[in-house]
Amino acid sequence: MTEFSARVEGVSISGIREVFEAAGEDAINLGLGQPDFPTPAHARRAAIEAIESGAVDAYTSNKGTRELREAIAAKYDRDYSLSIDPGDLIATSGGSEALHIALEAHVDPGEEVLFPDPGFVSYDALTRIAGGTPRPLPLREDLTMAPADVEAAITDETAAFVVNSPANPTGAVQSEEDVREFARIADEHDVLCISDEVYEHIVFEGEHRSPLEFAESDNVVVVSACSKTYSMTGWRLGWVTGSTRRIERMLRVHQYAQACASAPAQYAAEAAISGSQEPVKEMVEAFEERRDVLLEGLAEMDLETPTPQGAFYAMPKVPEGWVDDVVERGVVVVPGEAFGERGAGYARISYATGIEELKEAIEVMRETTRAVR
Ligand SMILES: Cc1ncc(COP(=O)(O)O)c(C=O)c1O
Repeated sequence: MTEFSARVEGVSISGIREVFEAAGEDAINLGLGQPDFPTPAHARRAAIEAIESGAVDAYTSNKGTRELREAIAAKYDRDYSLSIDPGDLIATSGGSEALHIALEAHVDPGEEVLFPDPGFVSYDALTRIAGGTPRPLPLREDLTMAPADVEAAITDETAAFVVNSPANPTGAVQSEEDVREFARIADEHDVLCISDEVYEHIVFEGEHRSPLEFAESDNVVVVSACSKTYSMTGWRLGWVTGSTRRIERMLRVHQYAQACASAPAQYAAEAAISGSQEPVKEMVEAFEERRDVLLEGLAEMDLETPTPQGAFYAMPKVPEGWVDDVVERGVVVVPGEAFGERGAGYARISYATGIEELKEAIEVMRETTRAVR
């Protein structure tokens, strides 16, 4: 009988789902990894017009429409003064596919991939699917990843290290100094840095910096997406950019696994990226206000929480039994260990929820904290 591949047997379905299933129907959901805002109207409209005109009835170019890639390239120029050739971009089915093709194209069986622990669940799973060996790295007290820890963990077997700033599940933002160091490490050790920047626009203090700005070699590949910035998780539109030779290798995987990103989503993304950025600004302001409400509540409960400077998650240290109790009382939060061994003792709280619901949830957390302490 045909057995399952060892690569697939080495991964399991994300633990986050289990928490959702454990919660009742009218639970307040602070477990979600998606903004609670609508996709900007001009993006929706662009997709509708493209559908009605018949423009999306056929495959696009494997890399995505020229217009979308030009819009993404213009965005990098606008945001970071980075000059990117539209030919060195692949539009993907979300940031998820971009991470997948980056790892498939660069990791040989047995090679190691370094990534933050706690970190986004896909890094471990996609490394295994690529046949590689995951090497989760501990974080600093403030939940950022120390460049020195990355450098110390590099061996002859290291194929890549993943930087994720702002980060899921921690909300941590790496300093410019760290980002410069990541670029130097990629250059000096000749190891690929995969920079996952899907939360690049959701930053409250300071500004997002990319290792791509600082690297002197072509050892940085950047992954991003419309998913979080434009509240477009359902549209499935992301991208990857890197040097021509790296894009050519990633395209080999993308071409056979995906052919091209969904055409309607490409039209919506082009409009989202090149149109007014006002909806992004409004969303980020709302997230910051909610973050402050949540942090104040957690501080009153004496739960130690590194201040998240981006994304829409907070990660307090919580007492034993806290997550289960909060979930039983009708608020969904995710146990830190769903994001790696070193996430144990933490909870991930997403504040992509209206402020009134968030305040209600904070009251529930207060009851739990009193009960389990
Ligand atoms: C850090 C990080 N990278 C990538 C992704 C994947 O995003 P997408 O929905 O665009 O596939 C997510 C989604 O939660 C994420 O949190």
